[in-house]
Amino acid sequence: MIDTASLSLTEIDELLRLALDIKKSPQTYVGACNGKIMATLFYEPSTRTMMSFQSAMLRLDGGVIGFDNPSGSSVTKGESLKDTAKVVSSYSDLLVIRAPWEGAAKAAALTADCPVINAGDGGHLHPTQTLTDLATLSAELGRLNNLTIGLCGDLKYGRTTHSLVKTLSKYKGNRFVLISDKNFTLPDYIKNHIAATDCTFTESDSLGDALPQLDVLYMTRTQRERLAVGENPTTFVLTPQLMSQGKKTLAVLHPLPRVDEISPLVDDDPRALYFKQANYGMYVRMSLIVTLLNITKSHPPVPLLNGKTYDGISCLNPKCVTNPAYNNVNLPRSFLRTGNTYECEYCSHPRAGRGD
Ligand code: NCD
Repeated sequence: MIDTASLSLTEIDELLRLALDIKKSPQTYVGACNGKIMATLFYEPSTRTMMSFQSAMLRLDGGVIGFDNPSGSSVTKGESLKDTAKVVSSYSDLLVIRAPWEGAAKAAALTADCPVINAGDGGHLHPTQTLTDLATLSAELGRLNNLTIGLCGDLKYGRTTHSLVKTLSKYKGNRFVLISDKNFTLPDYIKNHIAATDCTFTESDSLGDALPQLDVLYMTRTQRERLAVGENPTTFVLTPQLMSQGKKTLAVLHPLPRVDEISPLVDDDPRALYFKQANYGMYVRMSLIVTLLNITKSHPPVPLLNGKTYDGISCLNPKCVTNPAYNNVNLPRSFLRTGNTYECEYCSHPRAGRGD
């Protein structure tokens, strides 16, 4: 599962339903992955995502192998992501990967011999966090449509917001309020994605102005590790004073880790759902593991690349996994073409065609 874009609404709803059922009756699922092994390849730091995946697999009676720091693996000897994924997938039934390169999970899935789950690929996407967010909203708010959803903070590099907006815009009548510094707005390709649905968005640089209208407030931290030299976004801080302007039914989410964008004084407000949200993440990952291990028995895998290679066209995003600097030789270039715009199928970055 590389991107929720490949999932139909029915498939998403089924994954969420299963997650909530596991949460309700965990004993029914004990033994569900007996004899199976999940490998976690984490090239970037993680607490929640890695541990919730590990805990999910252990609770299903499966085994876990992997690294949480590539410095202890053959990556330090210069092994490419493709080769590592190929080899580790021959030891395991499921591969969970987090890496700083945009499109890394897709690149790994091209060579892996088992299903691959994207646990975050640079500043691009984080689909299992999105399923976690959806499970939280579905269980705590009761619906995923006709919502006014504020996303606040570093929307440029925050991969959780990218996946969340792409996925929530599959549901009818959602309205996004994008609250950020003007230099840290959601990338254009995501805004274009909203525009192609029946959902809408507005942009704001004031959390106070936006808050009263919101059903959901999704706070995020500044992704310091992804900032270019000289970039220095404002931190928006959610305080009890601001919360007093929110609806009684407001749901406050945050993928965590929190730095200083939510005052700890907000934590005891019943509308603050972020710690509950982290717990839903484990059940969502149990649901995903069980589903993927069963699906592959009967269904052929969905094709990963649907675009084409064009002579002389390579991705211009320096953080793309196809950048030759990352030692991923022989990754097939693949672009989806619309007119003279070519969108990289790994990292979603658009570029103009030759001669521009
Ligand atoms: C997020 C991530 O890694 O993108 N964390 C998480 O997985 N829960 C958010 C973040 O690091 O800010």
